[in-house]
Amino acid sequence: MSRILLKEYLSPNVVQIEIEAPLIARKRKAGHFVIVKIGTEGERIPLTIAKADIDKGSITLIVQKVGVTSHKLASLNVGDEVTDVVGPLGNPTHIEKVGTVLCAGGGVGIAPLLPIVEALHDAGNKVISILAARNKDLLILENEIRSHSDEVIIMTDDGSYGTKGLVTVGMEEVFKNQKIDFCVTIGPAIMMKFTSLVSKKYNVPTMASLNAIMVDGTGMCGACRVSVGGKIKFVCVDGPEFNAFDVDFDELLMRLGGYKNEEEQHYREQLSK
Ligand code: NAD
Ligand code: FES
Repeated sequence: MSRILLKEYLSPNVVQIEIEAPLIARKRKAGHFVIVKIGTEGERIPLTIAKADIDKGSITLIVQKVGVTSHKLASLNVGDEVTDVVGPLGNPTHIEKVGTVLCAGGGVGIAPLLPIVEALHDAGNKVISILAARNKDLLILENEIRSHSDEVIIMTDDGSYGTKGLVTVGMEEVFKNQKIDFCVTIGPAIMMKFTSLVSKKYNVPTMASLNAIMVDGTGMCGACRVSVGGKIKFVCVDGPEFNAFDVDFDELLMRLGGYKNEEEQHYREQLSK
């Protein structure tokens, strides 16, 4: 059981929850995630560790309300307990000084991007961050990203904040005007597919953090299977980060949508209870 210490809405559908998890806080590195369960019979969902406070013994998770479990988690309040928190899981991000790094985050993907931006900046890289959201109200963690970036570019689909356009428009501008040594892209799978195509066009090595469906998080169930460079990989133990140019994003998109009908039906059933 992990007690909720703080809860704050970052946008109408996205909530930031700080929970007690002293051992995880001590061990976690950028790129790590946890698997969370609400209730003993609950579904298991993966969530990236956005922040950790070793002194306080806490980690911060950012949850987008998309299905039954994320709604349940978001409905908990300070003092309530999360039944199970397992982690840190996955491989930490490979961090080294490479020069100038372009970090592109879309929507809730900005949450897993934050610790990576922080680590790349601490390693001495020049970090240019592009934060993209459908509109101003959906943009999260801008101040936190700013405090670890040399430059921040904001893109909104509707132009309500920053520059109007998708994240890929902002990336093109940066690639045309500056020499970029490495790129990180995190967001919805469709965004990572197209951001990778842009960085490939400019021949900039790119890493994507994948958001596959997970069950056990330890490489046994196969739920998080992805094809990378023609080989089968498991996001939970081989990832979550991969060379974006090798990822079969079309297959990932298909697998992410595989349980959509069942998820919607389950969600409707829970609402009607
Ligand atoms: P969203 O749909 O609001 O998109 C965010 C931004 O991505 C957009 O503003 C746009 O700039 C860009 N984008 C979207 N489609 C694009 C396209 N076709 N071409 C170029 N750019 C495009 O994002 P959201 O609602 O916050 O994201 C929800 C999804 O993100 C969920 O499916 C969730 O699973 C996923 N997610 C991924 C990670 C990860 O680790 N990769 C983490 C959290 C959430
Ligand atoms: Fe089961 Fe990765 S979640 S193999």
